Amino acid sequence: MSGRTANGVRVAQVRWGVLSTANIGAKAVAPAIARSANGRLLAVASRSGDKAARYAETFGMERHYGSYQALLADQDIDAVYIPLPNSLHLEWTIKALESGKHVLCEKPLALSVAECLRMEEAARLSGRVLMEAFMYRFHPRIALARELVASGRLGTVRLIRAAFGFTVADPTNIRLQPELGGGSLMDVGCYCVDVARLLLAAEPDEASARAVWSGSGVDVHLIGRLGFGNACLSFDCSLDTVRQEYVEVVGTEGRLRLDKALLPGTAATAIDLVTRAEGETRSEVQGVDEYQLMVERFADAVLAGSAPDYTARHAAAGMAALEALYASAHSRGETVPVTPLPTNLPPPP
Ligand SMILES: NC(=O)c1ccc[n+]([C@@H]2O[C@H](COP(=O)([O-])OP(=O)(O)OC[C@H]3O[C@@H](n4cnc5c(N)ncnc54)[C@H](OP(=O)(O)O)[C@@H]3O)[C@@H](O)[C@H]2O)c1
Repeated sequence: MSGRTANGVRVAQVRWGVLSTANIGAKAVAPAIARSANGRLLAVASRSGDKAARYAETFGMERHYGSYQALLADQDIDAVYIPLPNSLHLEWTIKALESGKHVLCEKPLALSVAECLRMEEAARLSGRVLMEAFMYRFHPRIALARELVASGRLGTVRLIRAAFGFTVADPTNIRLQPELGGGSLMDVGCYCVDVARLLLAAEPDEASARAVWSGSGVDVHLIGRLGFGNACLSFDCSLDTVRQEYVEVVGTEGRLRLDKALLPGTAATAIDLVTRAEGETRSEVQGVDEYQLMVERFADAVLAGSAPDYTARHAAAGMAALEALYASAHSRGETVPVTPLPTNLPPPP
């Protein structure tokens, strides 16, 4: 796990492999790894050898493989990035960990709490780092929003409003396939749930949701509510509406709003804050590549042999909320409890 800079200085570097030629990898994560200060994009694998070869050429990667298993057998690869359909995250994360690779797996980490906990156990047994690739968490604007909420400037938080949605027109898209773990909650609603948990630094205790189901059986639009004691998340997520993407926090003394809250791009962003004491203010935040920050933080944990910023246990707790939301949506909006994680689990690795 080392490389050399242009002037010959030895630097710690993680050698990365990418499992599949997925859009998100090609568009955002592989370029972020290529630019990262502590990583090297070494290899890609695809079900198609030709696709892997073209991808490797595009990114100037040294190696390409016609199967995921062949990449996992490459002893020079330290870590893999897994942007497979959601239903394949469990299988390939466990295979990668058992092959001695560290794993950055796309969101949502898995399809259920039980799957997340199996992945956590595989990470524990292998001694490798496992993290869910929620890139938005690494944007400094999210850190600032968390600080603002924790500082009490908004008073007591009563409500988080969030929305994330757009239209998926292609009926073959993985998001519209139930057997691949599709659906608006799994694809984009999971961001709304995750950001509320981060901002409130708490876990929800009850859920209710109503969904519109596609002919294939996935939720193309879901309106959900999560109770966090006296605070609440109200959100909607969709695969069939115009684009929407924002987060608002409403407290007894003020409120804040983030537009393009999850995918702000690399331009400068802002938080709009209104409080009784200070009136309207705007905090500017420098533009960054949140994907690059994510892969660098992950590689730092790999190189330091430390725990990742977000554990599979954190993902499991988020999945408990998603499971409750789906249970409610299937019973036409009945309020259901969010089942807490078992209390007898070992500490997360
Ligand atoms: N963090 C983010 O910003 C972000 C954004 C979008 C998506 N995602 C997540 O990333 C993952 C991939 O999403 P995507 O939109 O990039 O997907 P995608 O373009 O459809 O790519 C999925 C890839 O998985 C491979 N694959 C293996 N078995 C497959 C099967 N049965 N059906 C379809 N593809 C199969 C294919 O690669 P090969 O043919 O090369 O093997 C395919 O290119 C999902 O978990 C999604 O939630 C994250």
